[in-house]
Amino acid sequence: MPTRRRFLAATAATAAAATFAPTRHVTGQPAPVRIGILLPYTGTYASLGESITDGLKLRLAEAGETVAGRPLEFIQLDSEAAPPKAPQNTRRLVQREQVDILVGPVHSGVALAMAKVLQGQTRPLMIIPNAGANQITRDWCAPNIFRSSFSNWQTSWPCGKIIADDGHKTMIAITWKYAAGEQHATAASDHFESLGGRVVEQIYVPFPDVEFQAHLSEIAAREPDAVFSFFSGGGAVKFVRDYAAAGLKDRIPLYGNGFLTDEGVLPAQGDAAAGIRTSMHWAATLDNPANVRFKPAFSKATGRPANVFAVQGYDTGTMIVRALEAVDGDTDAMDDMIRALEAAEFADSPRGTWRMSAAHNPIQDFYAREVRGGENVILGVSAAALNDPATGCTLV
Ligand code: PHB
Repeated sequence: MPTRRRFLAATAATAAAATFAPTRHVTGQPAPVRIGILLPYTGTYASLGESITDGLKLRLAEAGETVAGRPLEFIQLDSEAAPPKAPQNTRRLVQREQVDILVGPVHSGVALAMAKVLQGQTRPLMIIPNAGANQITRDWCAPNIFRSSFSNWQTSWPCGKIIADDGHKTMIAITWKYAAGEQHATAASDHFESLGGRVVEQIYVPFPDVEFQAHLSEIAAREPDAVFSFFSGGGAVKFVRDYAAAGLKDRIPLYGNGFLTDEGVLPAQGDAAAGIRTSMHWAATLDNPANVRFKPAFSKATGRPANVFAVQGYDTGTMIVRALEAVDGDTDAMDDMIRALEAAEFADSPRGTWRMSAAHNPIQDFYAREVRGGENVILGVSAAALNDPATGCTLV
């Protein structure tokens, strides 16, 4: 559609949506489905936001010009991974822009702020393509909020066992001080301790600081058997490089959830990442037909290698397609869209087949991985069909 007509159609749809939210406007042309996107495009998580957006748009482009007869329209905002800015951005997308579907965010603190704005509302359909805040699919769970990614607990719990199975008895956890960091460190530590290990210290660095020197000196002085860490994006590049530069790499093995050595940061980490073991729900080396198709398609579209955030964006696109197809494009049929997503099996995902839990979080396999020759080599399945405990979720 030419830009001007597209703009006019969008304006008409917005104006009408305020009163009776039709899926066709007066000219008989299907109105676009309005998809609000709130992701970071600046700061330490910028590359995550870009990858998610590119994965999402790749999947929707593969679906064609329209989905279930309706064109799609994107209203995109930079979250800056800043929780204080999240309520206003969310209200802008939901109230002013009247989006049908809300995609975001990356940062757990932003997710919690967005969920508060949506509390008690039946619209829009929200799909979280990254932020792992456990509460979102536990005691804060809601019928219209889904996650295409993971809970923080899910990604880090398996890593506690990987560390214990490697024979380590003591560990230090180091991460950023905010909801996600705390939940990752706690999940890995709990599992490690349940298997007889001892966590001698949890070190919290203010988000998004990357001044690690003093903390690395402290780790060197305390000499734990192993270190668990959660850092991501720009912070993951810096931490892994600093850890090696401090001479710790060959003295105290470094572990993490897979964000630490995500395929998007591995090239910049170079040799500093060699030997790091992580747990994650995807790896570039995962051999399944959807992944074999996805990786070159993503690289062709973006000029960059695929990474886990791109996969989560891609699967968010699949969820949107499934939801819209289930209701023939009628975005007013929220209950039916919800039912379709709850029942769906995602067999065409680059991460392998996954299902949606009753609490609206993926039930998926996690892999133990080790960086060798600049890639994440899969050592085995660290947790098969892992479901978040969903503690306190009333949907369960
Ligand atoms: C989060 O804040 O939930 C978060 C951010 C980046 C990641 C994973 C989780 O890589």
